[in-house]
Amino acid sequence: MAIPNKPTGELLAVRDPEVEERDVDILIVGGGMAACGSAFEVKKWAGDKKILLVDKAAMERSGAVAQGLSAINTYIGENAPEDYVKMVRNDLMGLTRDDLVYDLARHVDDSVHLFEEWGLPVWKLDADGKNLDGAKGQEMGTLKSGAKPVRTGKWQIMINGESYKCIVAEAAKKALGEDNILERVFIVKLLLDANKENTIAGAIGFSVRENKVYVIKCKAMMVACGGAVNIYMPRCQGEGKGRAWYPVWNSGSTYTMCAEVGAELTMMENRFTPARFKDGYGPVGAWFLLFKAKTLNSLGENFAASDFAKAELEKYAPYGLAAVTPTCLRNHLMLAEMKEGRGPIMMDTVTALATLGETMDKKELKHLESEAWEDFLDMTCGQANLWCAQDCEPEKKNSEVMPTEPYLLGSHSGCCGIWVSGPDEDWVPDHYKWGYNRMTTVNGLFTSGDGVGASGHKFSSGSHAEGRMAIKALCKYVRDNADFAPTLKQSTQELVDVTYQPVRLYLDNCKYTTAEEINPNYTKPDGFAMRLMKATNEYGGGWMTYYQTSDKALEILQDLFNVMREDSMKLGAGDLHTLMRCWEMRHRLTTVEAHCRHIYFRKESRYPGFYYKADYPGTDDANWFCFTNSKMNPETGEWEMKKVEHVNIIPA
Ligand code: FAD
Ligand code: ADX
Repeated sequence: MAIPNKPTGELLAVRDPEVEERDVDILIVGGGMAACGSAFEVKKWAGDKKILLVDKAAMERSGAVAQGLSAINTYIGENAPEDYVKMVRNDLMGLTRDDLVYDLARHVDDSVHLFEEWGLPVWKLDADGKNLDGAKGQEMGTLKSGAKPVRTGKWQIMINGESYKCIVAEAAKKALGEDNILERVFIVKLLLDANKENTIAGAIGFSVRENKVYVIKCKAMMVACGGAVNIYMPRCQGEGKGRAWYPVWNSGSTYTMCAEVGAELTMMENRFTPARFKDGYGPVGAWFLLFKAKTLNSLGENFAASDFAKAELEKYAPYGLAAVTPTCLRNHLMLAEMKEGRGPIMMDTVTALATLGETMDKKELKHLESEAWEDFLDMTCGQANLWCAQDCEPEKKNSEVMPTEPYLLGSHSGCCGIWVSGPDEDWVPDHYKWGYNRMTTVNGLFTSGDGVGASGHKFSSGSHAEGRMAIKALCKYVRDNADFAPTLKQSTQELVDVTYQPVRLYLDNCKYTTAEEINPNYTKPDGFAMRLMKATNEYGGGWMTYYQTSDKALEILQDLFNVMREDSMKLGAGDLHTLMRCWEMRHRLTTVEAHCRHIYFRKESRYPGFYYKADYPGTDDANWFCFTNSKMNPETGEWEMKKVEHVNIIPA
């Protein structure tokens, strides 16, 4: 249960918090799409096992779907799962795990059917092929009963999705039971078992609504805390600080916490640098796919169709020219225009709406214009605000698009994450599986959604489905290891001391200065964030250098990371949200360090348009058509990197 907001403002932290110890069989960390999938599914397979779900926020509006969405980007429907595998592999420049992607494809539609059953309005086509949204769409029947969705692309369907997350969270809560859910509790670390090597045994966290630390023991765990934002300097600074494309509360906890207990990571060099409407971060998918808009350079040219673009695509496309250009290469073409001085790049909303309007009456045209607004109001209302503020009517004025700062995620158009076992089936290569689907290389530790690496394009529906698949395998693991009694290495007091260390440091020193944010003995997370993001922006291929880096720059960055790691132990917190920000910064630091270590290791530029290595331009299939995996030693903090063979299970 969430403790409600207090009208008294921020709660000051105390030196010695209350401590609550929990002993459960199954722990679900996170409350987003994947965790909601797990929560919905778990009781079917867990029998009488004790289950706990912990979310740092309130599930109704937590995670990437918080603001709502206007499309479900993965619905297989009439398509073949094999084609989905090929699309994902092509989009991610050839290197994805076919087993994981295929497995997702064969399950994802069931989650979409559930969403509709729970009340999510899905747009439908009427008998004349016209789009019906809202209640009219619902009147056409359900997808499961054969009604046809409004497809934008081959895989995407339109929804009226402002309340998408509320609907999904409600079902998850009902299935799991409110008593088995802790909201507003931030998990800071996972804990290994004292007796059984490389085996998960629990986690620690704290409440952001009361001075309380939770020490949780468990036999198995599903971690799905989303991806990472604010690891690179956002383009918006003072004037728009806090605005980013990705939800600001996903701070790399998934990757950092799993890496710290020794889980192998994969493809952490991959990032998502989305092209978005400038400053408001409005999504482009509906404009490209639904409204059939084109982007123009400053000369008014549709540059993506030029001979230059074709030559660039031929140079990099992993399997030759494909029906859908890989996302990073779409960015690459845009960046090439900008570097040649042919920016800014404009989305031609005026022509797109006028063209669609040619076959519409006045009422239909008005509806079309309101759909353009609703696309933003449903999922990025800040962009609609910006249009108002800038006096922009999209049917009269084009809007600028721009590649944003980089983000790390594994479920959208990116594929960094954790190396997990695929399904235990005979068509899956041996080095892709070790018994339990979606289990990491740490026994009993599972992940899904943004957590699973080398398999992007799951989106909201796929993340939900994957959470369901992972928890089913997890329940089998718990049954197979019924006599395992988790034992923590550290005492409860030691764990509380670790969690509240930033509070103690602050309380010991805050009286020394008059301005509490300036102190020789501690630093605040705000300043630390600026320092981290300045370093990654300048040396790690941020927007400042047009996403370009090099081994030399990355070596400088690694030195800076080393000092920041020491200084991260000097982060101080006088209240509970600052304590959360301290831990978020520690999680961000390790996540972005893993990202840069991977870029350093991979001696090529696998994802032009997402990042470039100036010293290794272009792709080098002979040496690098493989996965790159890393592992942090949980005792020493040292990293090891290796190449792992890639297999095309489904032929190209
Ligand atoms: P999330 O849903 O982000 O959930 C992460 C959860 O972890 C949250 O509940 C968070 O509170 C919690 N958490 C984080 N850290 C901690 C911690 N330390 N302790 C405890 N809890 C923690 N998909 C579509 O299908 N269609 C779209 O139109 C679409 N648009 C998108 C637009 C944006 C801006 C973004 C970012 C994503 C979009 N997606 C879309 C993709 C979709 O939202 C994600 O694929 C999906 O939400 C990933 O699920 P997840 O569970 O891995 O992460
Ligand atoms: S969203 O998550 O905010 O909706 P976005 O607008 O980038 O993301 O993309 C939505 C969907 O459209 C994704 O499946 C993405 O791969 C696809 N998409 C976006 N732009 C294009 C394009 N130009 N061509 C083909 N597919 C695209």
